[in-house]
Amino acid sequence: MSATAAPRAEEARRILHANDRGGYCVPTARLYPFQWNWDSAFVAMGWACFDEARAWQEIESLLKGQWEDGLVPQIVFHAPSDDYFPGPDVWGIARTPPTSGITQPPVLATAVRLMLDGARDKTLAEAKAHAIYPSLLRNHAWWQSARDPSSSGLVTTLHPWETGMDNSPAWDAALARVPTETKTEIRRRDTTHADPAVRPRGEEYQRFIHLVDTFRDAGWDPARMYAVSPFRVADIGTNAILLRAEQDLLALAERFGTPDDRAAIATRIARKRAALPRLWNGALGGFASFDQIEGASIPVSTSAGLLPLFAHCATPPQIAAMTAQLERWAARVKYLVPSTDPGHPRFEQLRYWRGPVWAVVNWMIANGLDWANRADLAALVRGNTVALIESQGLSEYFDPTDGRGIGGADFSWTAAIYLMLTA
Ligand code: GLC
Repeated sequence: MSATAAPRAEEARRILHANDRGGYCVPTARLYPFQWNWDSAFVAMGWACFDEARAWQEIESLLKGQWEDGLVPQIVFHAPSDDYFPGPDVWGIARTPPTSGITQPPVLATAVRLMLDGARDKTLAEAKAHAIYPSLLRNHAWWQSARDPSSSGLVTTLHPWETGMDNSPAWDAALARVPTETKTEIRRRDTTHADPAVRPRGEEYQRFIHLVDTFRDAGWDPARMYAVSPFRVADIGTNAILLRAEQDLLALAERFGTPDDRAAIATRIARKRAALPRLWNGALGGFASFDQIEGASIPVSTSAGLLPLFAHCATPPQIAAMTAQLERWAARVKYLVPSTDPGHPRFEQLRYWRGPVWAVVNWMIANGLDWANRADLAALVRGNTVALIESQGLSEYFDPTDGRGIGGADFSWTAAIYLMLTA
């Protein structure tokens, strides 16, 4: 597409510049004043459309927050801000820069691989990817040891925030077992920057903070956190994204790694490929997350259930069922992809991850639909995403029924996806 055919490209580039705080982007001013993990992976790919040097910097900045054990935190608090709760004092992690103590979906290796493969400046890309590769390797080893200690092939998520889909109805039952008492005084800031009707509810927030208190009391030790967490879920989104990322890491290891690296990655991929089918829910006719404390599949269809396509891991009958589901959703809403099944009783078209469309998820799903040889559906998802952004602007998320842009405005990852889809 030429510049004239992408009417918001200029604005999208301007938003990335405006949200740049010096080598990293905040997701949006005020509402999210720090650097977020999976946002950065998409934002880097967005920068790569017009400024590759700056794109690599985005990833290097995020990795300044990486822990010695390999964890890449959900948030890196590069500079203080009063606009967000819970800030560094609540997490209580003595590091420079301060970080939160949980993670987010690992899109990073995929971003690095795609940036390397698509690079115009090959010399720069080779040098940067080579330097970043060991951090990615350590991060995937962390996922293995911290979150799949029994080598089941599925990693565990300990906080809804780790899924990136904070208040999805998929977490309702598991989260309901988390007590609402908190040691930390709750001073929400998000509801002063955005309409409370489109944000998570108060009680959910108390449970979110209860988990943070619990992990802080566990000294942020991965084994203790895993043992004491009252929330333990095998998230279909995170597991699919990690399986995809492992394949991209293997491609990077072909260039920068050792035979031992490649063997370890290949073993994890084989294990994950064997395990992901356990997240198929026959009654639902789709992939779903699994509540590991309850020992049961979570019977809610969400957009994350389509991400095994992005992981290149679904059988032909599964692909047929997933694409048929997407077509049923398309008949119920105006814009794909609603974050929750629009026929589900807990679908809410305006509330965050309970219904709205998110551009980053659409990008991953469209990518997966290409792999599944459904270029028609991939084009529909991409076309809907571009149409939403062009009519409403670079919003945080969109109402799937009428396309209204909601949440924060001038959002970095929405800008990045727009640039990627119209490049
Ligand atoms: C919200 C979203 C999460 C995102 C963050 C910053 O917490 O749920 O996915 O990373 O905002 O944009």
